[in-house]
Amino acid sequence: MTNSCNSCCGAPKGFPSDFLWGGATAANQLEGAWDQDGKGPSVFDFVPFIEKEDQQGFKLETSREEIEEILQGKSKYTNFPKRRGIDHYNRFKEDIALFAEMGFKVYRLSISWPRIFPNGDEAEPNEAGLKFYDELFNECLKYNIEPLVTLSHYEMPLNLVLKYNGWADRRVIDFFLNYTRTVFKRYKRQVKYWLNFNEINVMAMAPFIGGGVLLDGAKNPEQLKYQALHHQFVASALAKKQLTKISPDAKIGCMLARSTTYPETCNPADVRAAQWANDFNYFFSDVQVRGKYPSFIKRFFEEKGVKLEIQRGDLEILRQYPVDFVSFSYYMSLVQSAESINSGSLGNFGFGLPNPYLESSDWGWQIDPIGLRIALNDFYDRYQIPLFIVENGLGAHDTVGEDGKVHDDYRINYLRQHLEQVKEAIIDGVPVMGYTMWGPIDLIAASTSEMSKRYGFIYVDQDDYGQGSLERSRKDSFWWYKKVIASNGEDLS
Ligand code: BG6
Repeated sequence: MTNSCNSCCGAPKGFPSDFLWGGATAANQLEGAWDQDGKGPSVFDFVPFIEKEDQQGFKLETSREEIEEILQGKSKYTNFPKRRGIDHYNRFKEDIALFAEMGFKVYRLSISWPRIFPNGDEAEPNEAGLKFYDELFNECLKYNIEPLVTLSHYEMPLNLVLKYNGWADRRVIDFFLNYTRTVFKRYKRQVKYWLNFNEINVMAMAPFIGGGVLLDGAKNPEQLKYQALHHQFVASALAKKQLTKISPDAKIGCMLARSTTYPETCNPADVRAAQWANDFNYFFSDVQVRGKYPSFIKRFFEEKGVKLEIQRGDLEILRQYPVDFVSFSYYMSLVQSAESINSGSLGNFGFGLPNPYLESSDWGWQIDPIGLRIALNDFYDRYQIPLFIVENGLGAHDTVGEDGKVHDDYRINYLRQHLEQVKEAIIDGVPVMGYTMWGPIDLIAASTSEMSKRYGFIYVDQDDYGQGSLERSRKDSFWWYKKVIASNGEDLS
């Protein structure tokens, strides 16, 4: 239902009354319990913490050799923070009670695929894993919080990497569909909103994380990446087909890391460079929404020597089962010039130049609330289907004050300014289903595996090395978000 102007044009005036306010997390970043109750290892359990001075604190790609070394205990890396998360697995009731206290209407989380199928390729699921999510969803529903569930958020079973090279192998489609059929059936009464692949465009930048693909010695890495991506596209469409049969009222969306990209100058060559960056970013959702590969990407494939193996029926499946809505993460905007196309480094998975008009976060991510409005308006112009902002937030160094509290006015400012822009887009007529802030409780950073990169409304007492009581406490932003939700976004002050 829309909060609209009755007296004149019927234009929306603000957030609709059924707007889904909440927060977003991923299993691999908060559950911990990486080998508890039969869970198998996932790709992210093998991404270590790296000290800042070493490799800029960043390690998303790996090799078979490095994984083998870790498995045999011969690796120089010993700190794997995603394995411990914030022990949400054993404390989820306390965490969800805190989300409920803020008034959450929705909670976005992911199911850890290897908790359900520890190896990924076995026929029967792990009942203990299924039971965990049963309890988790019931706990949400107890507080009238809708679960919004990501099927795959950088949590591919490691066995599928070692045995099949992840999504590069077409057989993984069937393993995935066994998993999706299992969870769709099991949770059809609890879950109405699903997402297929978190930030599906990550395959282009970090194929190990996005698809369990090791590039080790590949003759043409691009071929491997886009073939794996094709398999994910087909799997997403087939999963939608399953869902329409198993749970006809449920909705499933795609999920894109959106990088609004600006030209460095009004030089047409720079404008064209930015246009390409935006088109390339949209290519992934183009396939999942429009059900076909856009023509510009075919040219790109040709130039990169990519020849997709497309089986009979694949294109028809893509066409027949597009997603119901588009969801996306938005943290920052990027800048491109004709000279710099796809170089420079700023942000999580994007490339870009510094923007002199914007401030940056402690991690150099450029803060651009208007970029979110541009993203919303552009998405809707392009697809004309509902949108869901499923990640947006500020990773910062928080300090606990002498009063024992975190006073995070910087986080409140970031979120306020972004929500003001969401409201503007809604008034423009863009149908936004909801907003799930990333991550409502401090958790392990995806990119750097740091605990000290904090996003939460809720502080968790733990450091980068796993030291701390794990005690949860409310930051100032907790009370602010509670007020925002209670006023349905009318009071952003
Ligand atoms: C998105 C991911 O790219 O960015 C999340 O979907 C991630 O998993 C978020 O946590 C923020 O990135 P980071 O590296 O600061 O955790």
